[in-house]
Amino acid sequence: MIGYAFRNLKKNLTSYHGELKLLAPVTPSYGEDIVLLDFDIVNINENCVKIKVSNPNGKPGQSVPDCVFQRPIARPVKFSDSNFDIYIDTMNRNFYLTRKGEEGNPLFGFSFASLVFKEQYVEVNVKVPENANIYGFGEVVDTFRRNPNNTTTTIFSRDCPCTPKENLYGAHPYYMEVRNNEAHGVLLLNSHGLDVKLSPENLSYCILGGSLEFYVFCGPNPIDVCRQYTSFIGKPVFPPYWSLGFHQCRFGYENINSLKQVIKKYEENEIPLDCLWTDIDHMRNFKDFTFDEKRYPQQEMAKFANELHEKNKKFVAIVDPCISVDEEYEPYISGSNKDIWIKVKAKKLVDKEESDNEVDLMDEDEDDNKALIYNRDEIVEIPFIGHVWPGKAVFPDFFNPETQEWWTGVINSWLNKVPFDGIWIDMNEIANFSNGFRYKKLDTSDWADRKTGLYRYLSKYSKKVAELFTLNNNDDDYKGPMPIDGNEGCPFDNPPYKINNGLNHLPLNNKTISMGAIHYNGIREYDVHNVFGHMESIATHKALTEINKDQRPFILTRSTFVGTGAFAAHWLGDNVSTWESMKQSITGMLNFQLFGIPMVGADICGFNCPSDEKLCCRWMQLGAFYPFARNHNGIRCKSQEPYTSKLLCDVSRKALKMRYELIPYWYTLFYYANIKGEPVIRSLWMEFPEDNDTLSNETQFFVGSGLMVTPVLTQDATTVKAYIPENCELYNWTTGKRLNSFEKSGNYYILNAPIDTIPVHIRAGYIIPTQEAALTTAESRTKPYTLTIALDSDDCAYGSIYLDDGYSSDVGDNYSLIEFKFENYTLTCMPRFSGYNPMARINRIRIFGISFENYFPELFFDNRAYNPPVVSYDSEEEIALFSNINLAINKPW
Ligand code: NOJ
Repeated sequence: MIGYAFRNLKKNLTSYHGELKLLAPVTPSYGEDIVLLDFDIVNINENCVKIKVSNPNGKPGQSVPDCVFQRPIARPVKFSDSNFDIYIDTMNRNFYLTRKGEEGNPLFGFSFASLVFKEQYVEVNVKVPENANIYGFGEVVDTFRRNPNNTTTTIFSRDCPCTPKENLYGAHPYYMEVRNNEAHGVLLLNSHGLDVKLSPENLSYCILGGSLEFYVFCGPNPIDVCRQYTSFIGKPVFPPYWSLGFHQCRFGYENINSLKQVIKKYEENEIPLDCLWTDIDHMRNFKDFTFDEKRYPQQEMAKFANELHEKNKKFVAIVDPCISVDEEYEPYISGSNKDIWIKVKAKKLVDKEESDNEVDLMDEDEDDNKALIYNRDEIVEIPFIGHVWPGKAVFPDFFNPETQEWWTGVINSWLNKVPFDGIWIDMNEIANFSNGFRYKKLDTSDWADRKTGLYRYLSKYSKKVAELFTLNNNDDDYKGPMPIDGNEGCPFDNPPYKINNGLNHLPLNNKTISMGAIHYNGIREYDVHNVFGHMESIATHKALTEINKDQRPFILTRSTFVGTGAFAAHWLGDNVSTWESMKQSITGMLNFQLFGIPMVGADICGFNCPSDEKLCCRWMQLGAFYPFARNHNGIRCKSQEPYTSKLLCDVSRKALKMRYELIPYWYTLFYYANIKGEPVIRSLWMEFPEDNDTLSNETQFFVGSGLMVTPVLTQDATTVKAYIPENCELYNWTTGKRLNSFEKSGNYYILNAPIDTIPVHIRAGYIIPTQEAALTTAESRTKPYTLTIALDSDDCAYGSIYLDDGYSSDVGDNYSLIEFKFENYTLTCMPRFSGYNPMARINRIRIFGISFENYFPELFFDNRAYNPPVVSYDSEEEIALFSNINLAINKPW
């Protein structure tokens, strides 16, 4: 018999504990098997079960360390009180769990007869239904519903343009499955690289090591799963109000005047804008926290930041985790003094004449013709050197407790120079332009056609980037202590099992640091590679909180891990200006809702390659409904700001007006995300899991539960096909017209969508608060409110609004939460809490779907006639509009 068998299995009221003993290896390859394992099942709470298989003698980093992921304190419940039933079959050596009372319908479980557990390879096979509806697992560009026919998803953080199916920036070994109208979620808490192989009836995890620490969340509704998952991993951070406005960025703004021009053009064209971004262009030789004195003089940047603030606009700048190796550069000096860089073990460099020991001859020094020699026995730890934008660079080790103080310090002195409002942390996979340790000066001459190069997708643009980059490549080959575990053939970079890194089974150090690099306390990069961006997000959040404890930090990170949503927002990385890439952004955005990072968006109009006008028009419309809405462009790509053509300008202005009107609704959704862990954007199946036709839909989505968005995703189209689930009654958001079945063709509705229109519908039964749009969110916050009431078949509707100052990290009692209901032709305003007094009142009410028999032209306010609001009624479309009504939004009436 092969695999493992149970030993000493014991059950108490809330958990099982036992051991697993190896009978015989399942596979002789990939190294030695671990003979004895610990096995635990614990009811974490009534909705969550933990299953853990681990090596009792595992090294640090085997399980995800507490400083990376603080496991919430369990409130173990008795088996009888859990929403799961657990079945353990010691004879057949397997276990599974079901929903309570659903024996025979396993939600999750596996057999120990096929379990492989080695130092550098762990394999487990989870049984899934034949044609399972599985979502999640990332970060990757792929179909939303995963193809169950023998597909592999590799999870290993990597700096790479968004190429379909290739492992990208973040690591989320988490999925949600929809089965028989119900959903559950499964997290594998493990920070190693892995392949997830999905085939009919089987889901294999092939992992580079560590323990099997699974958590199953029972749902049964998809939104319940999101709540349960984020309660466990950390609920999403509450973003500042301004960050819900529109953002403009690009890689390649020439100088500060280019930035000023952007602001001027936005103003002239009356396009809303809340935040301007600066990419690495402003830095001196791409060094973090510096300013290029010719092109972006520090003092002018500071003045400009203040001017932006006076205009109620914000300014965000980029920070890369690569610290230039430059003896005259303050962050390098202070970081080196504190000794906080990621390290690598190395053979000490000695003088040949002075050395008595046996030595390795490594290199000839051409200058003085002397050999560099290394002492074989004397091993030292030296900073790991990579090569990123500033040339030779070291990387802060966020596992080291000393690093926080340094990080807060360098950020603080930078913000004292220029008062930026948020930080964009990029390149944190960690990106490295050499594969592993930087021994040789980087050769960038052939970047255009390199097979495995970072820029292989950029075709002609790559040369330009390479040119720019070459400027910082003017230092010499490496001549210091010789790293071990950083060399080619290092067992950590080339473990026996090869995950499908870069779709090419590339060594793990490809375009990143060596897996043999070491963090504080001896933790190997190999074991924690996937968490660097997450750790940097935590540290940056802490830094900004320490610097200004009163304000909510705003951080945008490229690399993410389980739980990053509690600290930062995310954008989907280096996409392409194509229709396909725009469409894929919807899936990307939906995946990150599952991962608990709702503040997400893609680079609007596309990053790599030039965007064309029509694509950009449609993307600005779709982007107006991303939670995080930023137009961002690649270096030397054609300008794509919304003012660059008349058509684009008109289209963008109209789309952003819709966004700005809806910000009170978005803000309320983020409040619920923050306190309840709910997704802000929802797929159709999240709202209608009982409708099988929603399961593969990846072209439409809901904002909250109340608004459905059906973007145009193909060139030249002026109509768009929308799938409307059974029982989902909708009204056009702009016109208030009911979506009628005569617009139906087969299962789909054909919606009108001329170039200036994105179809948006409000769902019957919902009340949505809006505010008049302005050119900044600060201004629109002062404008009158409108309530849009979309009646369901019982002529009822419900909604709410959350209000506060929009920026305080702790609002205390200074907030209002108001619920609205429309029943019996009466609208009731019910403040649940009214500590915050908004600047504006309700001025307009729109009621959609109110039939002639039920419509009264008079309004009564608290039983008294309320006159004379301006009223209009369209009996054919059943739309009533009341304006000039002037009602308080945070008082009961
Ligand atoms: C890579 C990022 O993904 C991109 O958004 C940024 O513009 C470049 N780095 C340059 O900083």
